[in-house]
Amino acid sequence: MSTLAEEVGRTFESSMITCGVSGGLVLAFMALIEEGDEVLCPDPYFVMYKHLVRLFGGEPVFYDTYPDFLIRGDEIEALITPRTKAIVVSSPSNPTGAVHSEDELREIARIADKHNIFVISDEIYSLFSYDAPHLSMASYSENCLLLGGFSKSHSLTGWRLGYALGPAKILDEMIKLQQFTFVCAPSFAQSAALSAMDVDTSARRDEYRLKRDLAYNGLRELGYTVEKPGGAFYIFPQVPWGTDEEFVAEAIKNKLLIIPGSVFSEKNTHFRISYAAEDETIKQGLDVLKTLIEK
Ligand SMILES: Cc1ncc(COP(=O)(O)O)c(C=O)c1O
Repeated sequence: MSTLAEEVGRTFESSMITCGVSGGLVLAFMALIEEGDEVLCPDPYFVMYKHLVRLFGGEPVFYDTYPDFLIRGDEIEALITPRTKAIVVSSPSNPTGAVHSEDELREIARIADKHNIFVISDEIYSLFSYDAPHLSMASYSENCLLLGGFSKSHSLTGWRLGYALGPAKILDEMIKLQQFTFVCAPSFAQSAALSAMDVDTSARRDEYRLKRDLAYNGLRELGYTVEKPGGAFYIFPQVPWGTDEEFVAEAIKNKLLIIPGSVFSEKNTHFRISYAAEDETIKQGLDVLKTLIEK
């Protein structure tokens, strides 16, 4: 088994065990943000980012990745101000499933290094990359705080276990703050993770790739406008009519639980499907989506 440092191709100055990636995000923003600081977040984003930034007195500033969910460095750089403290990146992404290319990650690294700000890289879905091996942001920037965990890769969500690796100047503060807040990740879960790391999860990834194909091909055949996700277990199509909430309300009336895009975005034009489900359930969901697009 290779270590993370081997996979990323460099050593890390410091590391810590966190209470999931959520715990890592809380500590990172707590360590980093002073009143009025800005944090660049992707739009669409994982729900916690903007609320945590605000909780600690900061302001989330969104870089728009629509319609293809790609990173455009020039647009991100134009948003940098003297108050910018960090750029948040997540690949593979929740809710879009987008996987960023080496060029995109290098662009983020270039901006972070040039402006001497951190990149907070949420890589919780690193084992769910379907078309190419996972690329870590940490391979491209020494300013990267890499967050990962066991909730998705090993279905240990309730065990609250994650890790953070990166520059000592942020991790020293996070370690201090953890001592006065979470104290530590559950010790039994830390022991379990040592065994979990020996488990080969590649068969599971292959199974999920097929589910991705089932969901993506099914949506395309029905006529939905949708990007092909390269990872995670979500897909983020455009709503064919109405707002995201109107469309989702109709789906729920038909016993299909999907999530309005505006939960993850400043826009209300898309909806999120999780295909972490039995194939039969995915097919039933597609049947409902067929009736909805015909309305
Ligand atoms: C992108 C992303 N980051 C972080 C988390 C939270 O992870 P954890 O269970 O490790 O706190 C999730 C959970 O859904 C997620 O999708």
